[in-house]
Amino acid sequence: MPKQTVEDIEVKGKRVLVRVDFNVPLTANTGAIRDDSRIRASLPTIKYLVDHKAKIIICSHLGRPEGKVVENLRMRPIAQRLSQLIDLSVDTASDCIGKEVESKVETLREGDILILENLRFHPEEEENNADFARKLARLADIYVNDAFGTAHRAHASTVGVVKYLPAVAGFLMKKELEIMEKFLHFPERPLACLIGGAKVSDKIELLQNMLKRVDMLLVGGGMAATFFKTQGYEVGNSLIEDDKLSLAKELLQEAEEWKVPFLLPIDAVVVKEIKAGASTRVVPTTSIPSGSHIVDIGPQSLELFYGELRKCRTIMWNGPMGIYEIPQFAQGTRSIASFLSTLSATTVIGGGSSAEVVQEMRLTDKMTHVSTGGGASLRFLEVLTLPGVDVLLDKK
Ligand code: 3PG
Repeated sequence: MPKQTVEDIEVKGKRVLVRVDFNVPLTANTGAIRDDSRIRASLPTIKYLVDHKAKIIICSHLGRPEGKVVENLRMRPIAQRLSQLIDLSVDTASDCIGKEVESKVETLREGDILILENLRFHPEEEENNADFARKLARLADIYVNDAFGTAHRAHASTVGVVKYLPAVAGFLMKKELEIMEKFLHFPERPLACLIGGAKVSDKIELLQNMLKRVDMLLVGGGMAATFFKTQGYEVGNSLIEDDKLSLAKELLQEAEEWKVPFLLPIDAVVVKEIKAGASTRVVPTTSIPSGSHIVDIGPQSLELFYGELRKCRTIMWNGPMGIYEIPQFAQGTRSIASFLSTLSATTVIGGGSSAEVVQEMRLTDKMTHVSTGGGASLRFLEVLTLPGVDVLLDKK
């Protein structure tokens, strides 16, 4: 059921609490914002509220401070970046609830923007504490959720607060949901899903759900090793999830029964030791040398995947093809990103590491959609709903 959006509600002169996901990656030693895509992605909602003369109260979490104040996870640098991007002044608050914040909110004029302090400085946020949610809600007349990236969390600012305020979606939330819904229910076919990542256990539900929907499933990354093992091949010292071997076997059998091509890499880059500068070899996946680790997909596998993906009209990619954090082993993941960017097919990039690579390679504009939610898009594709979305008002 489509959700009401910020356009379906009168916001003029109203205090609007906007939950965004400004949980942006920060550089470890300097605290500088490494990638501001998530801030940029919510600009349409914030600009709309400015143009329609709302009093805008923005809230977000940043990092995982675990219910304590952590100085380098304060929202001030985020407010400064938002101010630069939107070219308006953005005020900050010393907390996200309480008397001082309430007085600050009282002074807001139409079109003013205030950013509250990191929600997760309070343990009650993640506990979805009703009292905390009520205190947040007291600041506003309307609630707008634009935090697709956090919609898989049932927290006070994503779920609890909705009990006290009319709750609608922002434009980013709307866009993310429309794209995921289209991908799931009305894709242009053939439809392929390319799944990577280290572990089968992280992606089981996604694999199971996708198998029922796609015309082709391609699997790369560390988790391919568990599939090789189940086919009877040795994988050296590569990570194997022994307790997932039977599940991997079932998935391969199901794919065969349903005649869904299930492609695995045919060659791999291996090393003796996982470290930068290690000497690499490319070997067939049917003969991984003992004592070695698979660290990337090989060139023949890439050619195989390209050939199949070229036949598709819609492609969803979620998860790296190797240990991409070490640049030497990122070739496969980066090549997939470059290849997808050249296609005229619909390309949907799940958030998290695949999105990070696409953004870092400046290919975002060449994809149909790069999700701002890693965990959220994965969860949505697994269970077809999210707690932070369910609670928003349905369209009339
Ligand atoms: C994310 O980065 O995936 C979201 O901001 C949610 O963050 P979390 O995993 O710390 O809840």
